[in-house]
Amino acid sequence: MSATCVIGLQWGDEAKGKIVDLLTAQSDIVVRYQGGANAGHTVVFGGVKYKLSLIPSGIFRPEVKSVVASGVVVDPEAILGEIERLRDSGVEIEKNLLISDRAHVIFPWHKEEDRLMNDSGVRSEAIGTTMRGIGPCYRDKVGRSTAIRIGDLYRPDFPEKVRKICALKNRSLPGMAPTDEVRETVKPLDAEKIVADYTSYAERLKPFVGDVVNYLLDAVDANKKMLLEGAQGSLLDVDYGTFPYVTSSNSSGVGVIAGSGLPATFIKRVVGIVKAYTTRVGGGPFPTELKNDVGQRIRDRGNEYGTVTRRPRRCGWFDAVAARYTSRLGGATELSVMLLDVLSGFEEVNICVAYELDGKRITYFPSDVDDLARVVPIYETLPGWSEEIDGVTSYDDLPTNAKNYLERLSQVVGKPVSIVSVGPSREQTIVRNL
Ligand code: IMP
Repeated sequence: MSATCVIGLQWGDEAKGKIVDLLTAQSDIVVRYQGGANAGHTVVFGGVKYKLSLIPSGIFRPEVKSVVASGVVVDPEAILGEIERLRDSGVEIEKNLLISDRAHVIFPWHKEEDRLMNDSGVRSEAIGTTMRGIGPCYRDKVGRSTAIRIGDLYRPDFPEKVRKICALKNRSLPGMAPTDEVRETVKPLDAEKIVADYTSYAERLKPFVGDVVNYLLDAVDANKKMLLEGAQGSLLDVDYGTFPYVTSSNSSGVGVIAGSGLPATFIKRVVGIVKAYTTRVGGGPFPTELKNDVGQRIRDRGNEYGTVTRRPRRCGWFDAVAARYTSRLGGATELSVMLLDVLSGFEEVNICVAYELDGKRITYFPSDVDDLARVVPIYETLPGWSEEIDGVTSYDDLPTNAKNYLERLSQVVGKPVSIVSVGPSREQTIVRNL
């Protein structure tokens, strides 16, 4: 009886999908438990590239059940698009996908609220959301009165509920616009169209919807092996990340239990995923950001452009202060270091080992985002390696300087490195312990 979690320890996009894919081979069930269509990963299967946002990548393995658990916010149109694309390519999903009836549903008003509130003008910098309606849907969930869960789509009062919510939202939406100019762009919601669209989505989703909590608890009793797939990264966690420049769910290790409904004692292994450097998309402080050609070189070599929005990602050196914080927070049992190959060819590589805040050296991650915005990274500089390492398959064959880099990174973060990734394909993975 055990579960393994895969958690991003930075600001998302740590290439978790590849490790999830690797660990899926040892699992009976793969579970997505938070976030929504703001996440994105590319999976190559049978020579075809698939972009999945909501469906776990375990879906490509017929013997594995893929579960979208209660903590996820589901955009029915988006998930149906994924289902159709998978079906068209002959992927067997009918028996393998289960979606929680407790998961909350994203509606057109959520996307409109996301558009209007992203740059509210309250803070100097916009959050820079993915515009998928994630924050507004979670806001309605916690607010309760205007929230709709997947299970509600099948109740007879669903059309009436939508009409009432539309009437309320049609009053509140114009008021959310930060300027008169933006207010002019707000179009009234068409309740009848939404009822018709969502009734049709609900019918098409019906074969997949069920009580995920009971299913997972039965699976615990039956000693099934589970893999829990975190979306985004720990520094985007709504409670423990760089608030308010975060997503609206618990994307650090703390979200696993709430989002899945699994008992905490069931989680035995937590694989913390980090890139060998750091990236961030959207607004908010990023102490080790490199706004120079070194950053651009990392962006080019790592192809650091968003999977969902194609935005160029901000790039910087590895921040061990941040990773130490998030790996402790999530109870990581080990680290998986991704994209090490991107750092080949740098004469020197830096690891941020501490921050200077108002003249004082600190090794903790500040809780206040304005403090974080003021810190100056303190680097330890290590010699780089010139060799391309994308063909290396064993740890011992890595250049000495690459090994020294990994060992120092592991030492400062305080966790062992169990996996090192040196390229996108499955073969380009150095596994020290699986
Ligand atoms: P939201 O999740 O769309 O509300 O966006 C909030 C913040 O989280 C923004 O800075 C996004 O760029 C960031 N974000 C959301 N999802 C991801 C992801 O999967 N990878 C990286 N950043 C993300």
